[in-house]
Amino acid sequence: MKATAQAGANIAIVKYWGNLDASLNLPLNSSISLTLDQANTIVTVEFSPNVGEDRVEIEGRPAAGYARERVIGHLNHLRQMGGTDAPARVASRSTFPPATGLAFSASFYAALTVAGLAALGLAVDPRTVSTVARLGSGSAARSVYGGWVEWVAGASHEESYAQVLAPRDWWAIRDVIAIVSDEPKAVPSTVGHAAAVSSPCHQGRLARTTEHLAMARTAIRNRDLALLGQVAEEQALLLHAVAMTGTPRALYWLPGTVAVMQQVLAWREEGWPAYFTLDAGPNVHVLTTVEDAPRVAASLCAIPGMQRTLVCAPGGPPVLGDVHLF
Ligand code: PMV
Repeated sequence: MKATAQAGANIAIVKYWGNLDASLNLPLNSSISLTLDQANTIVTVEFSPNVGEDRVEIEGRPAAGYARERVIGHLNHLRQMGGTDAPARVASRSTFPPATGLAFSASFYAALTVAGLAALGLAVDPRTVSTVARLGSGSAARSVYGGWVEWVAGASHEESYAQVLAPRDWWAIRDVIAIVSDEPKAVPSTVGHAAAVSSPCHQGRLARTTEHLAMARTAIRNRDLALLGQVAEEQALLLHAVAMTGTPRALYWLPGTVAVMQQVLAWREEGWPAYFTLDAGPNVHVLTTVEDAPRVAASLCAIPGMQRTLVCAPGGPPVLGDVHLF
């Protein structure tokens, strides 16, 4: 009744922002992402009457409030599937700071789902793993696979799942993550999804998604970094335009965020193949080639406000491990 899994975070190229049904994390639009190899989360889960009551530790600290309730909600989905009411202990470790726009919830809920299903002895098909992970965090539906992944929006629980567009070794791209802050963001994604419809920019963002999805699929198929980067940058700016103009406001950018984006635009003027994108937080992803990743990473570190970089290649699917966190 105990298992451990590791799953990669993902960076959205075409982004999810706003729900058709928030209780099921059914999104308003399909999305496309790349699973990352160096940004990942390990989760150990044990279902046992000896645990007493549900215990959740994230990065060595007991989770409290909404963060704990959300994990328990997901444990309840897993318990229902496994036909048990045993309490659970959960612990996680990540290679990156949670709640900073680096898709912690994607990697956490993908790992929790894979570990939880294994701990309960449930063998289910990949599509079901994706739909169940989605209940924990929408973007986790994509992190149950490696490589390039599309989450098909769907209109019901069973129809809203992710699938692989291309495996991790299809394209040796690099994502240099520029970490400008470790501080948890003020507005969680769940609040941002609900606020999206209140923004005057929301319909404009949605109107671009069909074309952006087609462009992203083409870019991946042709390994076309310029096209992929164009989509990723515009999607980031559209998402943040919605976040900044909704109620409540979510202004995720810090001075370091803007400095990195401006530097990336300046590099492009000089001919560097580098493109920025951001999810819901201040930290910036810089998409570039294998050859250019070292100079991008080194130069990013010289920008005021920068803390460190995390250089990621495409990552694989979640893996079960024998070394447990407790
Ligand atoms: O899965 P959530 O609820 O954390 O939402 C993630 C939203 C973005 O990261 C901003 C975009 C995306 O598609 O991952």
